[in-house]
Amino acid sequence: ESYDMGGHDTYMHKEIHEQADAVDRALRGRIDDRFSTVHLGGLNLDARDARAVRRVKILGCGTSYHAGQIGAQMIEELARIPSDAEPASEFRYRNPVVDPDTLYIAVSQSGETYDVLAAVQELKRKGARVLGLVNVVGSAIARETDGGIYVHAGPEVCVVSTKCFTNMVVSFGLLALHLGRIRDLSVADGKRIIEGLRKLPAQISEILANEEQIEKLAAEYADAKSMMFIGRVRGYPVAREASLKLKEVSYIHAEAYPASELKHGPLALIEPAMPTVAIVPDDDLLEKNRAALEEIKARSGRILAVAHREQEKADHTIVVPKNEDELDPILMGIPLQLLAYYTAKAMGRDIDKPRNLAKSVTVE
Ligand code: AGP
Repeated sequence: ESYDMGGHDTYMHKEIHEQADAVDRALRGRIDDRFSTVHLGGLNLDARDARAVRRVKILGCGTSYHAGQIGAQMIEELARIPSDAEPASEFRYRNPVVDPDTLYIAVSQSGETYDVLAAVQELKRKGARVLGLVNVVGSAIARETDGGIYVHAGPEVCVVSTKCFTNMVVSFGLLALHLGRIRDLSVADGKRIIEGLRKLPAQISEILANEEQIEKLAAEYADAKSMMFIGRVRGYPVAREASLKLKEVSYIHAEAYPASELKHGPLALIEPAMPTVAIVPDDDLLEKNRAALEEIKARSGRILAVAHREQEKADHTIVVPKNEDELDPILMGIPLQLLAYYTAKAMGRDIDKPRNLAKSVTVE
């Protein structure tokens, strides 16, 4: 992409709208229909190495950490390898046990975030195998890792990450499919995921075409002093990322909680002045998610749902297109990027350069 604004008022808006093309680029040349898998040229991990992996540990900061949380779920679901994500900034200070059978993955847009780089260096010193999932080609983290995947989001200028997050999650989908097909994911499931990946660019365009509805909703909710974001399992990291986006760009306080944890405390916060954004995918947890909406409604909470069909308990629903269950998180956060953008715009915020934040944090 160029730095030409092409009619957009901010880089954030421009970058949100570049996502269909960016995802298309992340997929291009990587899908192998013959074996229902993908080619990831720079991974530097042969089939024997991939089969020997016992755990996956993903490290990143902020938005990249949230992408890693979705990635860990994808790898666990598709490749059946126990996986989790942790903020690199925490990992590096807790003297972690470094396990030779664990595959470590460092996630970073800039490839220069000091906390991630320091975690990679510590892991390398202890003999671990570390891959990178990075946007900026030739960056420090890309150079320090043993191999990896470039996410090909193109230059991201806005301090607040949008298109890079989406491409990171798509790249994790590719990696999960690759590891899965080396291990026990069937040809049929491989094909199913490939078909889902191919649908993404058109589905992203469909979501972005609904921008007017989201602009109106932003006006409706911009008076909130605080907002709750909830999701369950696949939806939880989506809720966390959406809450971070809103905080960063609008300065509205936002909390993200697993919907399943509401009754263990945060339900006490629910009242009309504390709206909830709920991630409600049409998957095997739909009824559980609907039960959470009922709990909130019973306390007079306002609800904005992001779902695959209208939710009666919600005051408003943003309907997004359905993909394969495992890939739904890629799409469900996109309208909430626009919600954050329009909320910040209504409040007159400095959208591309929120106060106190830098695009890459290269210091401790
Ligand atoms: C994203 O909106 C943030 N500004 C921030 O959380 C960012 O994702 C984080 O600092 C990590 O940056 P990186 O991806 O360049 O490593």
